[in-house]
Amino acid sequence: QQALKGRDFLKLADYTKEEIDYLIELADYQKKQSKDGIVFEPLKGKMLGMIFEKSSTRTRVSFETGIYQLGGMGIFLSSKDIQIGRGETIADTAQVLSGYLDGIMIRTYNQSDVEELAKHASIPVINGLTDLYHPCQVLADLQTIKEVKGVLQGQKIVYIGDGNNMAHSLMIGAAKMGMHIVTVTPDNYKPEEQVTEKAKKFAGEYDATIEWSNDPDAAVKDADVIYTDVWASMGQEAEQTQRVQEFQQYQVNEKLLAKAKSDVTFMHCLPAHRGEEVSAGVIDGEHSVVFQQSENRLHAQKALMTALMG
Ligand code: CP
Ligand code: NVA
Repeated sequence: QQALKGRDFLKLADYTKEEIDYLIELADYQKKQSKDGIVFEPLKGKMLGMIFEKSSTRTRVSFETGIYQLGGMGIFLSSKDIQIGRGETIADTAQVLSGYLDGIMIRTYNQSDVEELAKHASIPVINGLTDLYHPCQVLADLQTIKEVKGVLQGQKIVYIGDGNNMAHSLMIGAAKMGMHIVTVTPDNYKPEEQVTEKAKKFAGEYDATIEWSNDPDAAVKDADVIYTDVWASMGQEAEQTQRVQEFQQYQVNEKLLAKAKSDVTFMHCLPAHRGEEVSAGVIDGEHSVVFQQSENRLHAQKALMTALMG
C-alpha cells in the first residue's frame, strides 16, 4: 500500500480503518511466512533508531528483532546517553538522525515531543509509547483479537484500570474497527475528555460505541474481551501506594471473569502485577492470551516498518 510509505505512526487516530485493516492483514501474512521459515528482507540495509526515555522489554526487543528479521538493523538510543538528555533540541536531533537513519521509534513521556520529532524528521517516526498513547501495542492487540475471535467488528471489549495511554489507544482502535468499548475506571482516573470526544466521533462513523463506567461488575456483562493494565504507569512510581488503594475494587479476578461471556478473552499489555490489577489465576489461566499479544508486537511492528520504511 503506497499510501503508507514515508508516513509517521504517532497515533491510531491518524490512520483510516482500511489502513489499520491492511496493517493487520500484512502482519498476519508476515507472521505466517516467518513461521514457515520464509526469509523476507524488504528493509535490507535500513537503519531504525530507537530512542528510549523509559524502560522497555517488549517494545525494545520486538522492534530490534523485527528490523533485523526484515534485513535491517536497529540502534538502541537511551535518552540518557544521547545529547537530547543534555538539552539538545528535539528539532535538531530529528534533523541529525534523518541524515543517518531510515526510521525512528521513540518512547517518551509527552505526546507533543513525539509530534515535534516527527515534524522535524524527514524519515518515519513511530510512537513506542507516550503518557497519552500506545498505538503499536493496540495494533498488535487488534491482530490478536482477530486471531482469537475471527472478527473485530461488533466485539465488546471492557478495559478496566487507569484511563491513560492503553485506555486511550484502545478507545481509538476500537472505535475505528467498529467495536464496543467500555472503559472502567475510578472517578478520578477517567480517560481524557479530548480522547473520548475523538473516539466518539470515530465511533459514529464505524458503528462502534464508547462508554465509561466505574462499575466493573456491571460493565463486564456480555464482554468478549477484558483488558487491564498496571495501576501505576512508568513515571507514576511515587503514587503506587495510593493507587493500590484507590484501584482496589478494579482487580480482574476469577469472580469478575465469571460475569462476562463464558468464552471471554483476557488481555494485558504487560508488564503485569499479579495480585494487583489481575489475579494470578486469571493471567495464567485458560482465558489469557497475554503471550500471544506480546509475540504479536513483533509481527505487527514488522508489518508497520515494512509499510512505512519499505
Ligand atoms: N507492553 C509494552 O510496551 O511493554 P514494554 O514496556 O516492555 O515495552
Ligand atoms: N500504562 C503502562 C503501559 C506499559 C506498557 C505504562 O505507561 O507504564
